[in-house]
Amino acid sequence: PDLPDLVVVGSGFFGLTIAERCAADLGLRVLVLERRYHLGGNAYSEFDPETGIEVHKYGTHLFHTSNERVWEYVNRFTSFTNYQHRVFGRYQGQVYSLPMNLALINTFFGKSHTPDEARALIAEQASEIDTRDATNLEEKAISLIGRPLYEAFIKGYTAKQWQTDPTELSADIITRLPVRYNFDNRYFNDTYEGLPVDGYTAWLERMADHPNIEVRVDTDFFDVADDYKGKVPIVYTGPVDEYFDNCEGRLSWRTVDLVQETLDVDDYQGTGVVNANDAEVPFTRELEFKHLHPERAASYKPGRTVVVREFSRFAEEGDEPYYPINTAEDRAKLLKYRDLANKEPMVLFGGRLGTYKYLDMHMAIAAALSMYDNKLKPHFAEGAELK
Ligand code: FDA
Repeated sequence: PDLPDLVVVGSGFFGLTIAERCAADLGLRVLVLERRYHLGGNAYSEFDPETGIEVHKYGTHLFHTSNERVWEYVNRFTSFTNYQHRVFGRYQGQVYSLPMNLALINTFFGKSHTPDEARALIAEQASEIDTRDATNLEEKAISLIGRPLYEAFIKGYTAKQWQTDPTELSADIITRLPVRYNFDNRYFNDTYEGLPVDGYTAWLERMADHPNIEVRVDTDFFDVADDYKGKVPIVYTGPVDEYFDNCEGRLSWRTVDLVQETLDVDDYQGTGVVNANDAEVPFTRELEFKHLHPERAASYKPGRTVVVREFSRFAEEGDEPYYPINTAEDRAKLLKYRDLANKEPMVLFGGRLGTYKYLDMHMAIAAALSMYDNKLKPHFAEGAELK
């Protein structure tokens, strides 16, 4: 058969960035294999036909970066709105402004504090435990922010995220718990932030829209691997353990069940994301997608809104892997898989699944651009060995 110059496994941001650079910059013919029915990986979104609301199929995706090169690159394919992400948290019938800041402290303790007063209060409450003596996540958190804030804003949420009591979680999971002693409640601190004006899928499709790129959806690489392995260079962005038949055991992940509902109200919660901090509430947060794009208000069906509740749990075989758990055992397995990956001829491993790392979109794109600069371009343009 007519072989392409390069096969890319997976059409998420990592795979599409590789495909786009190799096709547009080097004129290579790139075949992208995608096992889902659509391109785009986890950033993919669909417009709900009934309400006109863009729904992020695999959890909310907020774009932000301070990387100039990534910002310049992504703006070739989409423009961005001026959306700024803010998150709120509900606890015992009250709503608080997150991340932890002076507004939250004042509401929670029922009194106005100056920044210095608030700092002194939290330092006093945190003095209960010395950080160096903390033996688990609960003690570490108390040593950083004190028991009252820990019990309200960390304990229940963390227990639900991990399906584990925080006293049984490692203290290493958190290094810092920043508290802002001002009213700044912007969630991200990056130079650039916004959402793609006509949606994620339009952006992802424009990356793939090149005569030298073919995206084949509904195609699992493992069903066609014999056609390409050892014959053409491959960039593989699927799960690294799966590539090697889980020979060192499976890497562990958390997944999220996203339960979607269309409600008969125009506005359900007044904002995009509200965390559920109470331990008794089974979900971790509620997303109301219309608030991510207030500029589209005129195109939404009045009196209806789409809400998604997130339920976090350990991923079983067949679940979508979302967040690496990264236990000591996982790290030991990962080292072995990395060795195998380095020895695999003509295959480069990348992306969040291929490297078993949580990557934000801008990080996945930046990592793909470096793989292109440091490995693919030297190979295809100068004949350097691919490794
Ligand atoms: P990604 O997972 O997107 O793509 C990999 C693709 O490979 C998938 O489409 C998969 O189907 C395919 N594949 C795997 N095995 C295959 C095989 N054998 N054959 C063919 N295809 C195969 N980032 C951010 O910047 N802001 C945010 O708000 C969020 N929010 C967020 C929420 C949740 C719940 C998650 C899990 C992640 C985020 N992210 C995020 C991160 C973002 O999703 C991530 O950066 C990108 O998905 C990374 O792109 P990749 O291409 O690496 O993987």
